[in-house]
Parts: sequence; structure tokens; C-alpha cells
Amino acid sequence: MISNTMAAALNEQIALEAHASSLYLSMSSWCEQEGLTGCAQFMRRQSEEEREHMLRIFDYVNERNAHALTPATHQPKHKFESVQKMFEEVYAHEKKVTAAIMKLVEQCYKEPDHTTLLFLQWYVEEQREEEALMSTLMDKIKLIGTGGQSLYYIDKEVERLNATEMAAEAEGAE
Ligand code: FEO
Repeated sequence: MISNTMAAALNEQIALEAHASSLYLSMSSWCEQEGLTGCAQFMRRQSEEEREHMLRIFDYVNERNAHALTPATHQPKHKFESVQKMFEEVYAHEKKVTAAIMKLVEQCYKEPDHTTLLFLQWYVEEQREEEALMSTLMDKIKLIGTGGQSLYYIDKEVERLNATEMAAEAEGAE
């Protein structure tokens, strides 16, 4: 059993992960429209990952005899100023998610709730990886700059990064 406070906090996290999934799917669609197929694939995979993050908490809440709530769906924005700005937004969103996970961890210490603390360790690690990935991506985008061929090179770079991530995941699943 988890406390009502913890259940409410975890339900908020479910909503945050669901919003990330929805926003990233919208970004994927925009990239597709812009002809940025590498970026579209990358954001599609990110969207699917966020849904998995959401479901993992969802199942945990129900398993602990609390009530996991299906979040409301708010339509995310579907137009972005540029691919550079879009990735800046992704990075900012990931930092926001990390801050929310850290708040949950603090709540675990406060109660204390060692079981949820253990459960959240996976998220602490996942957020470290996600932030590192986005930071690498932002560095590459800055290096490529905004010259005439920049969109082509950004798309290729993101496609390459996506393939590396997928290969690492496949290796981890073996
Ligand atoms: Fe599940 Fe990328 O936050």
C-alpha cells in the first residue's frame, strides 16, 4: 500500500509522461511534414518510450493497491518554429521530468517509502541517460550550425543517433 499523497504524486507523474508521449508524437509528425525523416523516427521512438514510462508507473500504482488514473489528453501543439527550437523544447521537457522524479524521490525519503524509492531508481537512471542523449544532440546541432545544408546534416545526425540507441536497446534486450 502507498500513501494517498504518494498515489497523487505518482498519478501526476503518469500525466507528465503521457504528455511527453503525446508531445513527442506531434513533433514526429511535424518532422515528417518537413521531410526530416531521421528526426521523425527519433521522435516517434521517444514518444513510444514515454508511453512505456507512463505504463510502468501506472502498473506500479495499481499493484500497490492504489488507483492509477488515466490522464486527460490535451492536444499538444503541432507546429514548431524550427527543428533546432524543437529539440531545445525536448531537452527542456526532459529537465522538467527529471525535476519531477527528484521531487518524488524526496517524498519517498519524507514518508519514508523505501519500496517506491527502489521503484524510482530506474527513472533516476533513465533520466540521466535521456538528458545525456539530448545534451549530445544539442551539441551536434550547434556544431552543424544554421548554414544552407544544416537541416540535411541535422537529420542525418539524428538518424545515426537513433540507430545507435536502437542497437543499444536490442543488445540490452538479449
Ligand atoms: Fe519519461 Fe523522458 O521522461
